Amino acid sequence: MTPEPHSLTGTDITPGPPPGCPAHGLGPGGLHRLYGPDSEDLGDLYERLREQHGAVAPVLLHDDVPMWVVLGHAENLQLVRTPSQYTRDSRIWTPLQEGMVKPDHPLMPHIAWQPICSHAEGDEHQRLRAAVTAAMATIDHRSVRRHIGRYTQGLVNDFCGRGRADLVSQFAEHLPMAVMCEILGMSEEYNDRMVHAARDALKGTETAIQSHTYVMDALSRLTTRRRARPEDDFTSHLITHPAGLSDDEVREHLRLVLFAAYEATANLLANALRMVLTEPGFRAQLNGGQMTVPEAIEQSLWDEPPFSTVFGYYAKQDAELGGQRIRKGDGLLFAPAPGNLDPRIRPDLSASMQGNRSHLAFGGGPHECPGQDIGRAIADVGVDALLTRLPDIQLDCAEEELRWRASIASRHLVALPVRFEPKPQQDVDLPPRPMPLPPQRSNWQVGSLSSDPAPATQQRPAAPRPGAVPEPAGTAPGPARPRGVLRRLLRWWRGE
Ligand code: HEM
Repeated sequence: MTPEPHSLTGTDITPGPPPGCPAHGLGPGGLHRLYGPDSEDLGDLYERLREQHGAVAPVLLHDDVPMWVVLGHAENLQLVRTPSQYTRDSRIWTPLQEGMVKPDHPLMPHIAWQPICSHAEGDEHQRLRAAVTAAMATIDHRSVRRHIGRYTQGLVNDFCGRGRADLVSQFAEHLPMAVMCEILGMSEEYNDRMVHAARDALKGTETAIQSHTYVMDALSRLTTRRRARPEDDFTSHLITHPAGLSDDEVREHLRLVLFAAYEATANLLANALRMVLTEPGFRAQLNGGQMTVPEAIEQSLWDEPPFSTVFGYYAKQDAELGGQRIRKGDGLLFAPAPGNLDPRIRPDLSASMQGNRSHLAFGGGPHECPGQDIGRAIADVGVDALLTRLPDIQLDCAEEELRWRASIASRHLVALPVRFEPKPQQDVDLPPRPMPLPPQRSNWQVGSLSSDPAPATQQRPAAPRPGAVPEPAGTAPGPARPRGVLRRLLRWWRGE
């Protein structure tokens, strides 16, 4: 059904129903609000909107600011792939120009234009993005995988002796920050304080500004150091790129990369681990070898994309999208979460998407995420190593007790408590070794590593993670391993 054409910037200013009325949650013009009572389950709301309006629906943001949300898979792709019609530069957004969006609007951090590639278009976008992608191209992916492995080993060492952990605060939020600090060239800044500051800044609590300043100070120090004396890291390559970024531009792009990578990858890790722990079919497939960890991560990117929506795209001219009449100056939410569930491409949501990477989690078009390989590598190697070390891991609460902190932009798992038999620490420089399990359990099927037995080596003491509380080290003898496999495994782990 093609929905009735609807204009966001038209003259319909019918006031919303009064509190107490069954239609409460609807705002002016009878439009649904993406905040307030309705926003508790945005997934349900998006499905109702799809039924009511089709692939593109009119909605209201805080302060009843009008916006379109794009629900269809094809329509989302059309939005991001048509820069001649839609831009990410919010300065042309009619409600902003007309003063409807106040400076203290809760979504202002997403909306306010900044001199970064995310908000730029045309030649300016190409100039900034060229510097970012060229700096990324210098990253040695094998050494990144090695760092991810080392940090994962260190993080698991911090809690493996206790038999309990919260995989959100002790794992998913730490690993991306550790890896990104290493990539940017400031591994010495990675500690509990930095993770806390990034989390706090993104949560928007009363201390958010202070926490944001803490992160920005570290990025400013790094920019000054590398401007004076470049090294072989992401920051130095960004500074020395012929695009000639100013210090401000360098700092702003470091912030963009650090926060985008941290938030999205922490969500991806937490979502994928939650799926493994709570969905028996998923776990059985991993255990039985019908699915590898990278495939599990890809399924998670389909079902729960780390960014539910991206703020925002703005119409440069009158257009038509999904049967709706879009006016010049209208705002549109690019929405991977409902777009990935579009019944036209997924009539059966329980069907596996194995081998199909056409989800919207990384966006598309000129702004498509340039860091997706790094995000995937952190999730693949991190989850793989964690499950190899703790194969008996189980959820330590009822599934219904899991809580999310949801906003229009994303949905974060608050905590993921797990329990397992306490395990000894392992050498962070070696691949993770599965520990012997009770006879009825089988090991995880984890990518190409799964069938390779782990090495039986004398362990060196595990290197402590900065800021971590050390636990007593232990060793457990591993089963005897064929030497060829050991050598191959070590070479893979070291990125040789
Ligand atoms: C699972 C992890 C990640 C996900 C799901 C993700 C997703 C996204 C999405 C949806 C966008 C916006 C596309 C748009 O504006 O239409 C984006 C942009 C971006 N991401 Fe990622 N991202 C991830 C990891 C990373 C990492 C690890 C880095 C850096 C190392 C990174 C750097 C960026 C940058 C610089 C942009 C802006 C690109 C531009 O506007 O031209 N992301 N990402």
